[in-house]
Amino acid sequence: MKINVLTLFPEMFRAVTGSSIMGRAADNGILDINLINIRDFSKDKHNKADDTPFGGGPGMVMLAEPIFGALESIGGRNKKVLYMSPRGKVIDQNKIEEIAEEEEITILCGHYEGVDQRVIDYWNMEEVSIGDYILTGGELAAMVLIDAAARFIPGVLGNLQSAADESVYSGLLECDQYTKPRSFEGMDVPEVLTNGNHKLIHLWQYENALMLTKERRPDLWQSYLDKEKELTKEEKKILEKVVANPL
Ligand code: ADE
Repeated sequence: MKINVLTLFPEMFRAVTGSSIMGRAADNGILDINLINIRDFSKDKHNKADDTPFGGGPGMVMLAEPIFGALESIGGRNKKVLYMSPRGKVIDQNKIEEIAEEEEITILCGHYEGVDQRVIDYWNMEEVSIGDYILTGGELAAMVLIDAAARFIPGVLGNLQSAADESVYSGLLECDQYTKPRSFEGMDVPEVLTNGNHKLIHLWQYENALMLTKERRPDLWQSYLDKEKELTKEEKKILEKVVANPL
């Protein structure tokens, strides 16, 4: 997958995209992150990339011209362009999966008070947000999106893991995890996880995931209950028990 990133601060990306799983994916040629400095396309002799807003108000607005130049340099027409913005629709895991299916996407990172609206309109950009809070710029949001989408690109996570079945039961939060030692500071790993009985382990994990989801995410819990599920007899019993338990 190729991801073009238009930003005023390309250096912010290097630490994240060059290390760990993303760094390996880039080395293996699975993920190509093309950082484009919008300022390089400024026609102003001081490389200006923003100006004061028409109509007044605080802050600066990113100029259309350098962004147009940057997009034209990558043949941006007819490509999917996402604009990271707190005004956008909040993205969820389904949206991330949809984005990860694209062969190439372009992400515009806004700064200051945003970008000239004509950029968004002309390039038919999709405004997306990572949550209902305001960051100082779109860069961190773009990195979150890239990281989450990269997990769905075949080969990025390796054979042992699959992004799709990360949580034990999709639609539920992931169950609690433990590793060695079995006893730490007087706290023991739940016995069932250590006895090698895979059916019991599976049922414990299911119950744990159900309880966490019910307690923390009423929205996910309701849609889990609303969906038709193929459950074994034992799973059904556990589900009924968790449904009946008061919070
Ligand atoms: N830029 C600033 N805040 C943002 C957010 N919450 N999501 C995406 N881009 C942003």
